[in-house]
Amino acid sequence: MPKKIRKIGVLTSGGDAPGMNACIRAIVRSAVYHDLDVIGIRRGFAGLIHREFSKFNRSSVANIIQRGGTMLETSRCNDMYTKEGRAQAIKALESEKIEGCIIIGGDGSFRAAKAMQEESGIDFIGVPGTIDNDIWGTDYTIGFNTAVNTALDAIDRIRDTASAFERLFFVEVMGRTSGFIALEVGLAGGAEEIIIPEKKTDMEQLCKKLKESFKKGKRSSIIVVAEGNHLEDTLNIAKYVEMRLKVECRVCTLGHIQRGGSPTATDRILASKLGIASVEGLLAGKSGHAVGEMRGEIFYTLFQDTWEKKKEIDKRYLRYLPILSI
Ligand code: F6P
Repeated sequence: MPKKIRKIGVLTSGGDAPGMNACIRAIVRSAVYHDLDVIGIRRGFAGLIHREFSKFNRSSVANIIQRGGTMLETSRCNDMYTKEGRAQAIKALESEKIEGCIIIGGDGSFRAAKAMQEESGIDFIGVPGTIDNDIWGTDYTIGFNTAVNTALDAIDRIRDTASAFERLFFVEVMGRTSGFIALEVGLAGGAEEIIIPEKKTDMEQLCKKLKESFKKGKRSSIIVVAEGNHLEDTLNIAKYVEMRLKVECRVCTLGHIQRGGSPTATDRILASKLGIASVEGLLAGKSGHAVGEMRGEIFYTLFQDTWEKKKEIDKRYLRYLPILSI
């Protein structure tokens, strides 16, 4: 029989992601629906340690579903990797009588939640919120779809200037150590090639392919590079290709632009579903798990599995790309 929870807290942690606000809204509304008290914890774990608490009601989260970023703000808090830091955070939750805490973030945040769960009597549930999509236990993380669409919009614009000047463009996208964003953006943006950590790219092969594409009459091309690729800095890759092929190359790093902006409908809906499922999970005794959606079904995955099991890229995309860029 799960223990009765009367008061919950919610915080966002790590890199913000579009859709986090929609998720906070779903959590608060769902808590109110279930007659729970709900506390918004500001500035992630850093704010938790400093007890930055606000009592939320249904109207506290009005008019935020469409906003990017996170109304709770966030932080990357190194104190959570120490027992002393976590003890302070646990004390803060206990002082506010918070019995269940929902953490919206990535694997670093889930690691902290798992440790706090083991070191206290408080229940924790994670919701995967990161543009990187690198969390096992969910097909997509909150923010990924928006980031892909934002990067795609930028690539469409870059294509205009690339073809006007007959240039090769290397567009660097985020994703930490994974290539999920690069893969989807590359396919949807009609890239000539993608360079991602999950696939070996041979520079000689790349130059050969680009040379052949010029011979076929292509006057400009876009190569999407994941920031965590196994080769080199994107600038150095571009310099090498420029030197080898004697074509003008340019680099565009999309950076934090990919993290901002209004969430897509896909992200708002995913965030709403996972927000509700996180509250329902707490009430059903699913503490120690992260909620996710796989093949349309809600799943609760043990915290540890979310980072220990490796989420694979869709290998079919690697086969499609050379066919489409012929
Ligand atoms: O995890 C999200 C992410 O945007 C990564 O893609 C990127 O590597 C990192 O965060 C950037 O972190 P920061 O905003 O701290 O520079």
